[in-house]
Formats: sequence, C-alpha cells, structure tokens
Amino acid sequence: MAVLHIIYAGCRRRSWNLETAILLIAVILCLLVILQMDLQNKKSQNLQIKTTDKQNFKSEAQITSPDLFLNPAHKCERNSSASKITGFSTLPKHIQDFLFYSHCRHFPMLLNVPGKCGGPENSADVFLLLAIKSSPSNYERREVLRKTWASERLQSNMWIRTVFISGTAQGGFEKGRLNKLLELENQQNQDILQWDFEDSFFNLTLKQILFLEWMERFCPDAHFLLNGDDDIFANTDNMVHYLKGLHGNDGSKHLFVGHLIQHVGPIRVPASKYYIPVQVQKSDRYPPYCGGGGFLLSRFTSRVIYNMSHSIPLLPIDDVYMGMCLEKAGLKPVSHMGVRTAGLHLPSKNLDSYNPCYYREVLLVHRFLPHQIFIMWHEIHRKDLGCGKLRI
Ligand SMILES: *[C@@H]1O[C@H](CO)[C@@H](O)[C@H](O)[C@H]1NC(C)=O
Ligand SMILES: *[C@@H]1O[C@H](CO)[C@@H](O)[C@H](O)[C@H]1NC(C)=O
Ligand SMILES: *[C@@H]1O[C@H](CO)[C@@H](O)[C@H](O)[C@H]1NC(C)=O
Repeated sequence: MAVLHIIYAGCRRRSWNLETAILLIAVILCLLVILQMDLQNKKSQNLQIKTTDKQNFKSEAQITSPDLFLNPAHKCERNSSASKITGFSTLPKHIQDFLFYSHCRHFPMLLNVPGKCGGPENSADVFLLLAIKSSPSNYERREVLRKTWASERLQSNMWIRTVFISGTAQGGFEKGRLNKLLELENQQNQDILQWDFEDSFFNLTLKQILFLEWMERFCPDAHFLLNGDDDIFANTDNMVHYLKGLHGNDGSKHLFVGHLIQHVGPIRVPASKYYIPVQVQKSDRYPPYCGGGGFLLSRFTSRVIYNMSHSIPLLPIDDVYMGMCLEKAGLKPVSHMGVRTAGLHLPSKNLDSYNPCYYREVLLVHRFLPHQIFIMWHEIHRKDLGCGKLRI
C-alpha cells in the first residue's frame, strides 16, 4: 500500500524531484527482487515435492516425514461456546467433546505415503485402492490383512494397493509408544496414513474426510475404492472381478455399493454407542446409506462425496455421513448381495458359518477375528475345495 501511495503521489506532482525519483526506482527494484525470490521459492518447492513423490515410488523409500500441505499451521482450538447449547451439561462426555471440536477438519499428518499410487499423475495405474480404518493398537489385524485379502498385488492384471488410516491413541505414554509402532510398520510396509487426532469412534467421520482429502491429492485417479474396517473379511479377488465386469464404468461414473440401510434415524437412547442427541442432529431421519463395515465406490463418487463434505457439518456416525453427502449430490447408494456387513444368515443353525464355500462367493463379511481371516483366506484359495452347489 505504501508503495502505491508513493507512485500515485509522484504522478500527481508531475515535476519529480530527484529524491522522489531515486526512492521510486529503489522501491521498484526491491519489488522486483522480492517477486523473483518468491517465484524461485515456489518453483523449488514444487520441484521438491515432485521429486520426493517420484523417488518414493521408484525406490519405495520410506517417507515418514509429514507432508507440508497436510499440516495446518495452527492447532484447531476448542469451541468453548458449544457449552452454551441447551442441555449441554447433561450430554455424555464424548458428545460434549464432539461438539467442542466438530469444526476441526485439519490435523497435522504424522505418517504419509505420498508415493503409494505412483504419484498423483500415475495413479490411474491403481485399479482398486483399499482404505482400511485401523486404530493404532490393532497391530495384529493389520499384520494379518497384509498377508491376506489386503496384500498389494496384481489381481487379474489389475493393481490393488492398500493404506491403513489411523489417528493417535488418547494420550500419555501409550500415545508415544503406538506412534512408534505405526512408524515402524510404515518403515517396513509403507502403508500407513496417520493424522494427529484422537482415534475414537466419534472421530471416524473426521478420519474418513481426511482420507478423501488425501486421495484427492495423492491418488486422484485410482479407479475404485474399498472403504472398510480392519475386522472384515473382504474377498478382494471377487471385488476385482465384479468391478472389472461393470459395463461402461471404469470409475468415472457413480458407484456406491454395500449393505444398504434405509428408513432409519438417529438413536436417541443415551446408553447406545450410536446415541445422537437432538443437539447434534435435530432431524429424525437418516438418508439411505451403506453400513460402515465396508463399501465399494468409484473415484467419481469419492470425489463428489469429498466435495459435498465441505458444506455439510460433521455427523459423528461416519457411514451415515457418507449417505448425507450422497443425498446432497443427488446420488444413491445401492445394495449388493455379496456385502454382508450384518454377517451371514444361514438357513440352519447346524451349518458351519465358517464353511469356506460361502466365502468364495461373497464380496465382504463383517466381524472376523485375525486368525479367522488367516484361515479363511487360505481355505478359499485351496484348489481342492469342493463346494458343489452349496450357496447362500
Ligand atoms: C461454536 O459453537 C456454537 C454453538 O454451537 C456455534 O453456534 C458456532 O458456530 C461454533 N463456532 C464454530 C467456529 O464452529
Ligand atoms: C477428536 O479428536 C480431537 C483431536 O484429537 C479431540 O480433541 C476430540 O476430543 C476427539 N473427539 C472425540 C469425540 O473423540
Ligand atoms: C465440486 O464442487 C464444485 C462446486 O462447489 C463444482 O463446481 C465441481 O464440479 C464439483 N466437482 C465434483 C467432482 O463434483
């Protein structure tokens, strides 16, 4: 502003004296130098980012340093006026916490794998990206998944890539220890995305949005996405087969399939894990959504959801929140027979619910223990598994 003022004044007077002229030239020179420095700075920043992405992909080097772009400069402050909401003091502590922090959507990234999809410009090589929500302490689950359905591989000529999405433990020594654990895991496997927020049930929506933001930046062209929990059995062979067989949709059109839930609303029972008081959501209706154990979506739909999320206040139930984003975009989630987030319903109690023949046919079943996943993955791949006409 000061500079403009001098120039303006100079013009007005017309007859410049020497002093003004020198001052003016000095100022212009300064401006040029500053501009030049700024440009160079930006260029080298861009270059640095590009080269680290590339290097990371080529050498699979371990990048555990935080990414500048995903690190907000300021810590998100608690909104203390939330406590003025009527009935606030009667709400359970985790809901109070949610209300205090629900405006916070950016947290520092602790672990990143920027080269996961070969850099954004090569990410179309990834056919199916597995994004698995996993709390820091779920070490055994991640280990088993890496060896089974979430193993990164070329399946029917299509690349499957995997990331585990995590926050941090609540605090104290345990937080530090588990951060170390994830860092070690990431050094070995390059498959952890971690942000510095408390990994709690009511922060799952936050986790989801942070992941979608990551995908937009680091893996924008992966064709399809499996979003799921770390306690599901996902038959990723079948998923690739199903997604390859979609007619006219290579990820560039809408797709959102899972276990469809509709005609329900918030649970108003304070003791429930899913309790949502009117202070969090007034409406008694939830939009149609797919159960959060796991669902498949196209990159088109994941982008639309991320886009919509900017203008929809967070609801702590992550799968319902996805439904809200879809509804706002005028898109519908649909049911797929093969997604059994509510478990299998067998015709008789005498049947073995872990008979591998059932799991050869499905896409996804919820709630498996690590050892059950390990056994099942090997069973369904047995060449001599005779199943005949057994179906569910
Ligand atoms: C803080 O909470 C109050 C009460 O719920 C709300 O009106 C306000 O918009 C919130 N501020 C931010 C920054 O979210
Ligand atoms: C979500 O994470 C933030 C940041 O760690 C934390 O302050 C807040 O209490 C968490 N919210 C819930 C509901 O757990
Ligand atoms: C995202 O939203 C903006 C408007 O907010 C719109 O112009 C753009 O097309 C949207 N992109 C997608 C992929 O939906």
